[in-house]
Amino acid sequence: MSAKIIDGTAIAAKLRAEYHLRVDDLKARHGVTPGLAVILVGDSPASRSYVRNKIKACQQAGIRSDLIELSSQTPEDQLLERIYALNDDPGIHGILVQLPLPPHIRVSSVLEAISVEKDVDGFHLYNMGGLVTGNTVFSPCTPYGVQKILEHENIPVEGRNVVVVGASNIVGKPTALMLMQQDATVVICHKKTRDLGHFTLLADILVVAAGVPNLIVPQIVRTGAVVIDVGFNRLPDGRIVGDVDFEGVKEKASYITPVPGGVGQMTVTMLLHNTILSAERYAT
Ligand code: GUN
Repeated sequence: MSAKIIDGTAIAAKLRAEYHLRVDDLKARHGVTPGLAVILVGDSPASRSYVRNKIKACQQAGIRSDLIELSSQTPEDQLLERIYALNDDPGIHGILVQLPLPPHIRVSSVLEAISVEKDVDGFHLYNMGGLVTGNTVFSPCTPYGVQKILEHENIPVEGRNVVVVGASNIVGKPTALMLMQQDATVVICHKKTRDLGHFTLLADILVVAAGVPNLIVPQIVRTGAVVIDVGFNRLPDGRIVGDVDFEGVKEKASYITPVPGGVGQMTVTMLLHNTILSAERYAT
């Protein structure tokens, strides 16, 4: 079997065209332009590149974006003051603080300072709680992107075995919760999991977000499984790869996402979605 290679870039482009229409509608009918504030603390090249992509995507979608760049020495209370001001700014519907933050800043204080109604990343504890109880305010962007890919490909989730490899707060845990909410049977594997293959071989749908190149080899993938690779790793030679041995696993899976060109474009697309949704809630 050779898997269908899911074109995340094409799915993202289709969704972005739909979202652009929603932006036009908000402007025309309500005089509201969705606004996203992106805060970057420090000068990590990777974070800078992610932030640049987000700003560019906003521009293309007709969304206002304000980039706030702060030095890596910024005290936590100054960062919190900036967030409070954005919470009160009616032109801003989404606030995103790019992670990771410098070690002297407590991530939890920052994420909880963001107004729940503007938490387009979905990282606030309240929004995390909403995910657990099925009362989602904003779905975190990468897990939401995974869900949209499955929807787009008409891949059913209900009653199926989903194995998520990686237990991060940003990807693994929320992905597991969202798919469980859709009545999948979900297992989360992580760094301390013994015999990873024992679990991954059960997966009808395998979602991998571990940050380890070539972690998933064909021997530990069930024939016909759907494989969603959220990994994004830069090799010493500069190549970008996911966590899945793509060439090997594509011969065994029924569907597979490539890296790059799979989930990556969807994360930013869902950020656009959440910002527009927030502006729609504000306008109506
Ligand atoms: N750093 C890596 N991924 C993300 C993300 O989705 N949102 C934010 N704010 N920071 C990140």
